[in-house]
Amino acid sequence: MGEEKKIEEKRKEIKITPIKQGTVIDHIRKGQALKVLRILDLIDKDIDFIVSVAMNVNSSMGKKDILKVEGLELVNEELDKISLIAPEATVNIVRNYEVVRKHRVELPKMAKGIVRCRNNNCISNQNEPLIPEFEVVGKDPVTLKCEYCEREMRGEKISDNVI
Ligand code: CTP
Ligand code: ZN
Repeated sequence: MGEEKKIEEKRKEIKITPIKQGTVIDHIRKGQALKVLRILDLIDKDIDFIVSVAMNVNSSMGKKDILKVEGLELVNEELDKISLIAPEATVNIVRNYEVVRKHRVELPKMAKGIVRCRNNNCISNQNEPLIPEFEVVGKDPVTLKCEYCEREMRGEKISDNVI
């Protein structure tokens, strides 16, 4: 292997380090990784495991983001919430460096406390102690309908309104 090639290989290794044990959320649409972290409540939380974020990584399907949570196996209900903004994401559970489980996230029927309604007049935006709640009424693109005012929200607008 030529010297340049070796350096290139090394660079790749460093960029996306494998984890020993935990959860890898792969195939996140480019630019959504931080919002996924927010939905999973992995920001501002007193966490004691390593979280790494890779953004704008090259893949065969174009650019993507990847999230790795080392030392924690996230459960499906938590992860399905991210399907609202990252419907193509794949969840990999890693044990002893091997992927032991791989699945696609699934859209939940309801989205509670994840995004806020875009309608300023909606009762969920009036300082009432209400948790914003939406019914998932469409898949492609993901479409949410507010339980309080029935305003619909889809695609980019959903990720713009993550709480
Ligand atoms: N991964 C990791 N640490 C490991 C094993 C895997 O961080 N010890 C990551 C890989 O870098 C990849 C994801 O977990 O981002 C899935 O790994 P794998 O199934 O080996 O990759 P692919 O076959 O490319 O996955 P897919 O078919 O889902 O694209
Ligand atoms: Zn509303």
